[in-house]
Amino acid sequence: MKKTFKILSVMLVLTVLLSMIVSAQSGYAHTEEDLNNFIPKWEGIQGDDTVISLAPGKIQGEINFCWLSETEGESFKISENEDMSASVSVEVNQSDAINGLISNNVTVSGLEEGKIYYYSYTENGIFSQPEKIKIQPDEKFTVLFISDAQIGRSGDETLEEVLVRDTCGWNYTVDKMMAKYPDAAFAISGGDQFQSEDSLVQMKAYLSPEELRSLPVANTIGNHDSDATLYGDIFNNPNEVFELFKSKAGTGYYYTYGDALFITINSENTSLTDSERVIRKAVNAHPDKKWRIVTMHRNPYSASLSDDDFSDIRLLFSSLYDCYDIDLVLAGHDHLYSRTNIMYGGKEAEEGTVYLQTSSASGSNYDPLPEETASFIVSSFDTRVPTFTALNFGEDTLEISTYRTDTDEVIDSFKVEDNVSDSKANAFTVIFSIFRTLFSMI
Ligand SMILES: [Fe+2]
Repeated sequence: MKKTFKILSVMLVLTVLLSMIVSAQSGYAHTEEDLNNFIPKWEGIQGDDTVISLAPGKIQGEINFCWLSETEGESFKISENEDMSASVSVEVNQSDAINGLISNNVTVSGLEEGKIYYYSYTENGIFSQPEKIKIQPDEKFTVLFISDAQIGRSGDETLEEVLVRDTCGWNYTVDKMMAKYPDAAFAISGGDQFQSEDSLVQMKAYLSPEELRSLPVANTIGNHDSDATLYGDIFNNPNEVFELFKSKAGTGYYYTYGDALFITINSENTSLTDSERVIRKAVNAHPDKKWRIVTMHRNPYSASLSDDDFSDIRLLFSSLYDCYDIDLVLAGHDHLYSRTNIMYGGKEAEEGTVYLQTSSASGSNYDPLPEETASFIVSSFDTRVPTFTALNFGEDTLEISTYRTDTDEVIDSFKVEDNVSDSKANAFTVIFSIFRTLFSMI
């Protein structure tokens, strides 16, 4: 008995010490006062079991909605009037979801640029208060990029205080980015939306910012999302592509907005043929889009690697991007901001792909840069402050700025050059590209 007590005591001390170490890696932009103001909202956030998520549809003018419910036969309607008069009902597609719940999926198409719409949906049979959405233009527009909100990462995720402060940090970042870019067309999240892949508590916390009732977010499968169905149950992604080795969470997908093709890769599936199929389907469906932008959780050119480190993620994925003339890759996972030079064939080049990874969007965790920064990194920022990135699409330009959320200061700004889409991708060029990347790393 005494021995068991001793072991338990040692384990408790170790757990507390580990929790302190993990906590020490967090860093929030919000103040104690912000946190105290946020705490009373927590109960309402956790009481909202039918919180809705919005995602970009296949094209501008289409939005995907999704929510969980306990009952079948849920409804969705949309109107141009705040009082929901003259509303139109839209079909709800239901499927089985985690914990015996039901996933309700809606796609609304044909929404007109510049117009405001209101939507309402049934939450276990009762219609919600109407929420407002505005359809943004698609010639000049802004897309916001964040990653790794990872609610619950800053300490022991079973403790409410840990979840509350991470959620406060996430809400603070969303408030800041929407204050700076209130007319953003949509946002992209680079993955690890929650710490635990099956946590409804963390999912509700992630969806809690009020702005997300109006802002579509294209979420990505991260290593913390991959092994449960919750990600796919609550996010209604467009153009999902078949993957032979799909994650429980789902697969890669694609969509367009303006002159840009956005491809979201599931980097937890390292089957080359699966990811190649996602990219090929997207590119074949939209061969003439000027910009080709990939989002994936893990970064082929991670700032956590030095020049001498071997990267299987680089070998597999950047070889594909070389073949398909991808302009820009957005990533997360490493919890620090970095941007590479233009890369092609494993080396810096005149034409190729820029790899940008962003840090924690909530402040729940950060990684340090290695002692020697790799030569391919041209900009990095490992200060423990949440950041967000704005992709500003002009008529013929793409300018990118990243902001720290505490001071609004721009920490990095650059223009993306169009990596002209003239390569021929086929089995031979992909294999050749893999060997070229391999030889650049050994
Ligand atoms: Fe991750």
